Formats: sequence, structure tokens, C-alpha cells
Amino acid sequence: MFAKEIYISRRKQLAGLVKSGIILLPGNGESPMNYPDNTYHFRQDSSFLYFFGLDQPDLAGVIDADSGEEILFGNDVDLDDIIWMGPQESMASRAERVGVARSQPFGRLGDYLREAIGMGRRIHFLPPYRGEGKIMLAALTGIAVERQKEMASLELIRAVVSLRSIKDSLEIEEIEKACATGYKMHVKAMKMAQPGVWEQKITGRIEGIAASGGGQISFPVILSQNGDTLHNHDHSQILEKGRLLIVDAGAESLLHYASDFTRTTPVGGKFSPRQREIYNIVLAANNRATELIRPGVTYLSVHLEAARVIAAGLKEAGLMKGDVDEAVAAGAHALFFPHGLGHMMGLDVHDMEDLGQIHVGFDEEIRPSTQFGTRSLRLGRRLQPGFVITNEPGIYFIPALIDQWRTAKINDAFINFDKVEQYKGFGGIRLEDDILVTPEGSRILGKRVPIDPEEVEKTVAG
Ligand code: GLY
Ligand code: MN
Repeated sequence: MFAKEIYISRRKQLAGLVKSGIILLPGNGESPMNYPDNTYHFRQDSSFLYFFGLDQPDLAGVIDADSGEEILFGNDVDLDDIIWMGPQESMASRAERVGVARSQPFGRLGDYLREAIGMGRRIHFLPPYRGEGKIMLAALTGIAVERQKEMASLELIRAVVSLRSIKDSLEIEEIEKACATGYKMHVKAMKMAQPGVWEQKITGRIEGIAASGGGQISFPVILSQNGDTLHNHDHSQILEKGRLLIVDAGAESLLHYASDFTRTTPVGGKFSPRQREIYNIVLAANNRATELIRPGVTYLSVHLEAARVIAAGLKEAGLMKGDVDEAVAAGAHALFFPHGLGHMMGLDVHDMEDLGQIHVGFDEEIRPSTQFGTRSLRLGRRLQPGFVITNEPGIYFIPALIDQWRTAKINDAFINFDKVEQYKGFGGIRLEDDILVTPEGSRILGKRVPIDPEEVEKTVAG
């Protein structure tokens, strides 16, 4: 945990932004895997962590934005619990540790909220994302599960986004710890990228590195030689010489801040000329994006510039044709780069995605695109110092998408379909770094995982 003054100050700012009503921030509970006592690894709710810091299940915090009163709800354990769980900190002590003056048993939360609702007070809550959380919110407020998303408080969402978007130096330190673990995970995966190795074996090894770092993986590992599937969680293949292994993986720090890197490695350690040509286009797009990232620019414009680098490179390679700017305006690059350049990162790997991407990544000025490819961009708005974002361009040869575009003649003025056809089976390449927007520009967080093709080849060779 950070010092209690940090949580006190965050809650004070939150109450100031929301101005009036009761702010309800429930933490997560345990979630059963296959029977009630056999649970998934516990993961606290990120907004609860941000404002109340406590990493145990079955807690909820409320802040009265009018009076400033704060209460932490949760139960003290009894002897039965102590026998199984060992001695536990009292609720009074937990509350004191995060600077909250009052604690109450969890069962009192419903009465507290009903009383407030009876007095005409507004209850501000964030959109719940777990089944258990939705059921609890329905029980506490009487708001049916189907209506909770629309009834979530826009004022609270906006206030939380404005605070959590800007990372302070302590949060950056945490992210850099997660990056240090991510670095080890990726170097290990590169070294294991040899013909005959089972993908699952690499997956298990890097998950172990994340766990040994004190946290866990920040999202389920994406690792496959079938990298044309963007988020491939199938690790059943045996690596074959000549294929490309995509690894998109990250760790959490002890305080649950994330890292998220992607690297693409030639199995056996040597890029073919064709692989190297495509790899260098993705690398150029990644480097160009890093150059452009600075306060005041929109991430949409950086995304589109990365798309132009990709389209220009693919034109040079004979896979695209025509005017590059026109091709990108028409969305033709999205045959190869069908996703966004990146997303915010913090306590969540896709930071605050539970609050609604429209509120996190966009604003009145920059609205989400409806065009295939760019519509998958999760962050478009102007960058500010303190934002932590990912930079993850890619080029993929997706047989089903190629067939669809070719048959329907989509963007055929810009695509050399005959040549593209020859790349079926190539897989995909994605290169992802984590970037801090600084007052002067930006910096890559953590030690950069080997990315130049020679460096990657050397790493595989050990
Ligand atoms: N690293 C997975 C993603 O960004 O979607
Ligand atoms: Mn990412």
C-alpha cells in the first residue's frame, strides 16, 4: 500500500469532483472456480484499490460528498475464520491504515444506503462488471441488474477517469516494477522460441516469472505461432522452424499496476528476408509513434500516422498500392492492421475499461471512429503528462479477412491481392512498448525488451 495520506487525498479530490451525494465504491469478493471454497485468485477492484488501498475481499467504501464523512464496511473475523485463515487484522485497524475514521459491519451497508435513498440522496456508483457485484448492487440499491449500466453515475465515472488517468511518480515506480518483471518474461520467451518447444511450456514459464515477481499476470497470456489471430490464447502448438512466435504478456506489481509488452520472435532465431521486411515496417511504425507521443497531440493522430507508416512500408513491399494518405483515409491499411495503436494502462492493463471506453479514451473533441480498424482504437483523445499508454502497431495476414476483402473487392484500389495471397500462413507481427507521457514528450517505461531484429536474433541465440 502507499502511505495513507495518498488515499485520503485521492478521496478528498474525488468528493470535490462529484460534489454531492453518496459515493459507493464496493471492493470485489472471492469468486468460486468450481465450488464455493475453491476460488479464483483474488483480484481487488481497481477503483476500490485506488481510493481505499485495501487488498482483501468483501469490503466496501462510501464517501459522503456533501459532509466528507467516509465509512469502510466489512466484517471482523470470528474464531472459526481464524482457525482456517490465521489471525486477521481488525476492520478498525484496516480503516485506520487508509485514513478512514469509521468502520461498520458489511451488513450495515444496505441500511445506510436505504436511509440515504429515503432522504432523497443520490447514490453514485460505477458500472459493475462481475455477476456477483451486479447482484450485490441490486440487493443494496434495488436497481435491477439490466438497468445498472445506464444508471451508473456519469459524474463519478468522469471524476474517477480524471484522477486515475494521471499517474503520479509513485504509480510510475509501480508500473516500472511490473515492466521489470515483464522484461524477464519476454526475454525468457525469446530464449525458448526454438523448434519443437510446446507453446504451453513457454506460457507456463513466463506465468511463473510473473508470479515470482510478487504479482500475477496482468491479463491471460497471448502466445502463439498463429499470430494472425490477434488474441490467441491457444497454446497447444509445437513451434516450427521458420514460423513467428507472438508473445503479448505482462505482469502486475505487488500493488497491482500492470505492464503489457508484445514481441515477435522468429522460431529458431533467424528472420527470413520476407519476415524481416515486414518486421521492420512494424518497428518503424512503433518508433514513429514513440517519437510523436507528447502532451497535446491526439492519440488518434498518432494511430493514423502509424497506419501511414504501415501503408507506406507495405506499398514498398508490393502488398499495397496507390496514394498512402488516400489508402489510410479509406481504411485500406486495416486489412493488415485491424486494431488500435494502444490503450491507457495503470491498475488495469486496459485502464478503466470497466468504466466505458467512451469516457476513458474519448471526449467531446475526439469521438470514436466507425471505420473498420480505427473503430477498435481504445484511446483517441489528446495526451497529457502522466498518461501511461501502450504503443502496439502490428501487421497480420488473416486468411478469412483477406478472402472477404478480395471477394467483395474492398479497397481493391489500394491492395495487391495477388501478392497478399502469397502471405497466407505468414502469421502476424506486433511490437508493443509501454510509454509515459512526460511534460517534454515521452519515455519508454522499463528497460526496453530487445526489439531490433539483430538484437532479437542474438537474444534467441543466448
Ligand atoms: N495486451 C493485450 C491487449 O492490449 O489487448
Ligand atoms: Mn496492449
